[in-house]
Amino acid sequence: MKKITIAIDGYSSCGKSTLAKQIAAALNYIYIDTGAMYRAVSLYAKQHGFFENNSLEVGKLLNALPEINISFSYNASTNKSETYLNGENVEKDIRTIEISNLVSKIAQIKEVRKKLIDLQRQMGKDKGLVMDGRDIGSVVFPDAELKLFMTASPEIRAKRRYEELIAKGDDVNYEDVLANITLRDNDDTSRTENPLIRASDAIVIDNSNITQDEQFTLAMKYASEIINS
Ligand code: DC
Repeated sequence: MKKITIAIDGYSSCGKSTLAKQIAAALNYIYIDTGAMYRAVSLYAKQHGFFENNSLEVGKLLNALPEINISFSYNASTNKSETYLNGENVEKDIRTIEISNLVSKIAQIKEVRKKLIDLQRQMGKDKGLVMDGRDIGSVVFPDAELKLFMTASPEIRAKRRYEELIAKGDDVNYEDVLANITLRDNDDTSRTENPLIRASDAIVIDNSNITQDEQFTLAMKYASEIINS
């Protein structure tokens, strides 16, 4: 069967990774969460004291870039692919609201993006993968056979994210989560380097009012049409 590349882009907390994982499992494809890669670089910068009063010392990060190795490894007990930073499992540490608040500063740095995009292209060179992020259909894989662009209202996304964080035991309030999402939407769409834009050939899925199952069925219909064509 023909193997394709599926690019899923969209706003923060839109359920991109949930959909991407479902599609990857159904097609037996690799799933790559590129947001996790930007988060891992943010964690490295934080751990090494490159954030001084929330402002990033870019020069220090650029010097350290060659030392930052990011990889993914499948964990059979959780049935998930987990993120590793220099050999250490950081899957939990990169999902905190503190990292969410720092990551936009990291994602706007050209050299960071170049390093991560090179790695993403390497990971996807054999096709048969679903990759989610902000610039996958527009920059990383402009020739992807299927491009989805996901969106939902900020309030609905904040509610979903808040419930996820509470379920994990994080001490957060809804207003802070909504503020973080609004801020990241703004940062994602306004940065100079590869801002979040819908590729002209991407199919928009607004999931404000559809269930995860409906969204999955829709995406699989698009994928099957291409794979079987
Ligand atoms: O998908 P996420 O929320 O885990 O992504 C974390 C941050 O990384 C997000 O604020 C935007 C940035 N990002 C990016 O700039 N480009 C990507 N391909 C993926 C994520």
